[in-house]
Amino acid sequence: MHAVEIVDLFAGPGGLDVAATWLGIPVVGIELDDNACATRKAAGLRTTQGDVCDWGPENFPKANVLAAGPPCQTYTVAGSGTGRQDLNDVLTFAKRMANGEDVTADLKKLSDPRTALVLEPLRWVIRAIENERPYDAIILEQVPAVRPVWEVMDEILTGLEYSVDHNVLRTEEYGVPQTRRRAVLIARRKDKGKVDVTLPAATHHPYRKGVPRPEEAGGIKPWVTMGDVLRRPNPFVVVSNYGTGGDPKARGLRKSTEPSATVTGKISRNRVIAPDSTMLPRFTPAEAGQLQTFPADYPWSGRDIAQQIGNAIPPLLAAHVLVAALDLDPKLLNKWTAPRLPLWFETVGQ
Ligand SMILES: C[S@@+](CC[C@H](N)C(=O)[O-])C[C@H]1O[C@@H](n2cnc3c(N)ncnc32)[C@H](O)[C@@H]1O
Repeated sequence: MHAVEIVDLFAGPGGLDVAATWLGIPVVGIELDDNACATRKAAGLRTTQGDVCDWGPENFPKANVLAAGPPCQTYTVAGSGTGRQDLNDVLTFAKRMANGEDVTADLKKLSDPRTALVLEPLRWVIRAIENERPYDAIILEQVPAVRPVWEVMDEILTGLEYSVDHNVLRTEEYGVPQTRRRAVLIARRKDKGKVDVTLPAATHHPYRKGVPRPEEAGGIKPWVTMGDVLRRPNPFVVVSNYGTGGDPKARGLRKSTEPSATVTGKISRNRVIAPDSTMLPRFTPAEAGQLQTFPADYPWSGRDIAQQIGNAIPPLLAAHVLVAALDLDPKLLNKWTAPRLPLWFETVGQ
C-alpha cells in the first residue's frame, strides 16, 4: 500500500505510534489522559487530546489506516458474572451496529459506560464506509479476554470486503524481552493487497518456564532476556507476583537470563534481588519501558508512568503487526532487534 497514514484510537503513551515512527509511517493518536498526553508531547508524537467518542473518520481525512488498543474493561475480570454479561452485551451491540442500527442511545444505558469503548473502532469503520472512504487496513489489540469481540469483528469485517486474521500473540515470540499475551486482529481491504492478510510469523522461540533457553533453529531465534536489554552489571531475579495459582512466593519469579513477566502498571512494586539475596534498585521507568521495547531514552512524562508503560503495546510487536497488516517489506524489521534498539532522539532527530 502507498501513502499510508494511521489514526490511532486510545493511543496511550505511544506503543504503536513509536513503531509507526520507526517504520516511517505518519500517525496521529487520540488520547484522553493528561499523563499519557504529556509523554506523547515530550516524544513529539502527533496527538489530539480528547474522547475518541467525540470524533470520527471525517475529522482525520488523511488517515487511511485505523489502529486501536481500547482500554481493558470489566469483562476482562476472570470469572466475573458482570464481566461475562458485559461481554455478551458487547457482542450483541456489535452485530446490531453491523446491521446498520444506531445503538448510541442503548449504549448509554450500560451500567459501565467504559464497556462500549471496545466498539468504538467498529463505529469508525462503519462511519468511514458510509463516508465512502473505507479504511485500507485495520489493527486492533487488546488483552486475550477480548478475543470473542475480535471473532465477531472478524465476521463483520469479512462481510465488509476485508481480509482478516486474528489470534493471541505471545510477545516473546517477536523478540520482546517479556512474556505477554495479546489478542491482535488485522484486516486489509481485499482490493488493497496481493494476498490475504496474515498475522506476523514468530521470529523467536516461545518461553517455557524451567526449560533452558533454546538455540537458534530453523531461523527462529532464542527468546530475548531481561539481561540482554538492561544495562545491569550483575545477574538478578525479579519477584513480580504476576499471575495466579501455584506457590505465591515463586509466582512471577524471573531470572535476568529469562524474559520478564508481563509488564503491568504495578511493575514499580517488583523486587529485584541479587543472587546473594541483596535487594537491588527496583526498575526505573526507563528500564520498565525497555522491557516493553521502548527506547531507553523514551521521555516518559506526567504521573502514573508505570501505568502508562503497562498499558502500551510493545513497539517491537506493533512493528511486526504493522508490517504484516500493511504488507510492508519484512526487512524493515531487521534493524529493530531488541538488544540494539535505537535511542529515541537519534531516531526521530529531535
Ligand atoms: C490500553 S491503553 C492503549 C495503549 C496504546 N495502544 C499504546 O500502545 O500505548 C488505553 C488508553 O485509552 C485511553 N482512553 C480511555 N478512554 C478513552 C477515551 N474515551 N478516549 C480516548 N482515550 C481513552 C487511556 O487513557 C489509555 O491510555
